[in-house]
Amino acid sequence: MDIDVRAVGKLRESARAQAAFGPLVQALCRSGADLARLRVVCDWIQYRNNFRDTAMVAPVLAAGLGQPPADGAAPAVDGYELAVDLRRCAQPGADVAAEVEAALAGAEASRVWLEPWAPGSASCVWRFNALYWQALADWEKATGKEYERALPGGESDARNTASARDLILGLFKVWDELAARRALPEELYVIELGVGNGGQARTWLEEFTELDRRHGRDYYRRLRYLMGDYSAHVLDRARQEVAHYGDRVSGLVLDATRLSQSVAFLAGKVFLVYISNVYDNLPTDEVASIRGRIYLVQTRGYVPVAVAGRIAARFGIRTEELAPLTERLLRIGPELLSESLPGKFADPGQAVQFWQAVWGALRQAERYVPLEGLDTYQVTPSLTGEILRPLLAAEGDVRMHVSNGALSSFADTLPLLHPFGQLVCHDLFLTGHGQYRSGFYGPGKYDGSTVNWVNGPLLQLLASRRGFGVTFSPFTRRPGSNIKTLTAQVRD
Ligand SMILES: C[S@@+](CC[C@H](N)C(=O)[O-])C[C@H]1O[C@@H](n2cnc3c(N)ncnc32)[C@H](O)[C@@H]1O
Repeated sequence: MDIDVRAVGKLRESARAQAAFGPLVQALCRSGADLARLRVVCDWIQYRNNFRDTAMVAPVLAAGLGQPPADGAAPAVDGYELAVDLRRCAQPGADVAAEVEAALAGAEASRVWLEPWAPGSASCVWRFNALYWQALADWEKATGKEYERALPGGESDARNTASARDLILGLFKVWDELAARRALPEELYVIELGVGNGGQARTWLEEFTELDRRHGRDYYRRLRYLMGDYSAHVLDRARQEVAHYGDRVSGLVLDATRLSQSVAFLAGKVFLVYISNVYDNLPTDEVASIRGRIYLVQTRGYVPVAVAGRIAARFGIRTEELAPLTERLLRIGPELLSESLPGKFADPGQAVQFWQAVWGALRQAERYVPLEGLDTYQVTPSLTGEILRPLLAAEGDVRMHVSNGALSSFADTLPLLHPFGQLVCHDLFLTGHGQYRSGFYGPGKYDGSTVNWVNGPLLQLLASRRGFGVTFSPFTRRPGSNIKTLTAQVRD
């Protein structure tokens, strides 16, 4: 049996976490589990709200792409992983042995499944995430607080004026130099992706107008600030926030993961692509290397049957109705759900309560499916899993994010940049070798949305293959912040 403790720092700090190993090993030895085929992985899941139980079992499949055999039998299994959250094991009163026993017992019947098995990026978690941004006003009405309050620090770093000022002064320098060579285009494009409540745009534009006034070159007259978001509701809210900037600012409904379909006309023209807290909100798969073999992590959303029963009782529905009603909610949103089923959800508020209850209870089962070859795995429509090879080879046994959505977005953004333009992105990036082997980086739940840290070295690899350089720097404007700033520009 292998025991892999990723939460090494926390293990050192927490006597309770250390004490969890006795009951854990005893429970395993008491069980009938085949210990030779079991690996135990201990994480410290820092997200209070997440998709895992304290302990859960994930089968490591033997072969094939996770399709069950034709006779309907369960797919062959090579081994099992017991994933343990040391944070919850270290809480006062935690019964580690009982958690392990429950996970090993793991009866299928104890779950109400919401979807079939799929790679993480295709999980219903992302439909919940999109619904959150589409129907944000309904959600906020129910919670009584703006989404920004749910972020670490209670405010988005995108509203940091000092960091906006540094960026703008950098732009002025580039523009002055180009102007001196008569090479400055008439229209000066800036694009912001994932605009939230418009606070980022407002801060940036306020700083811009003030600095431009002092600088005296009237760049503001030539500025074209485009705000892009996939939520029409969020975009409207952001538009209102910066309405007084008139036609300097426009809003576009677009999917940040498919920019070539919407803003390709700006190829080579954009001086700044400005992104904050969006990449960590885009769909991702995870891959793992286990004893030298590479696996794709498949997930399957469910609600524990006992909780499903309580939700059903609260809303006067049958437990069997939970999955179809959730599907309907994700398809049409809370307002239409209540309009179409007034007998079950008397008003949109009731439908939002149902949404929040299911989201709160949502868990993801996991299984490891062998990848027959990295080139058979499509990371994005134009990129195969081969790009992962050097990162996986450097790490040994590891599990990492593929950051599929962020990679797609990043790959489509680079061609938009003017030769002197840059992409600046504040986000939760992993940046170094070995980090995945010593920490947990998502998924977690923030309010109604999903967060996963972004695989920085993977973005760096993609950029370097396309002639761009990428640097990461700490976001020093908020001490203690986990946010890093990625800057990408054409390599000298
Ligand atoms: C966490 S908020 C960040 C808002 C703001 N940039 C900030 O830092 O405060 C994420 C934003 O990204 C948007 N978003 C998420 N996925 C997107 C996608 N695939 N395409 C476009 N926008 C997306 C959401 O609608 C939301 O406005």
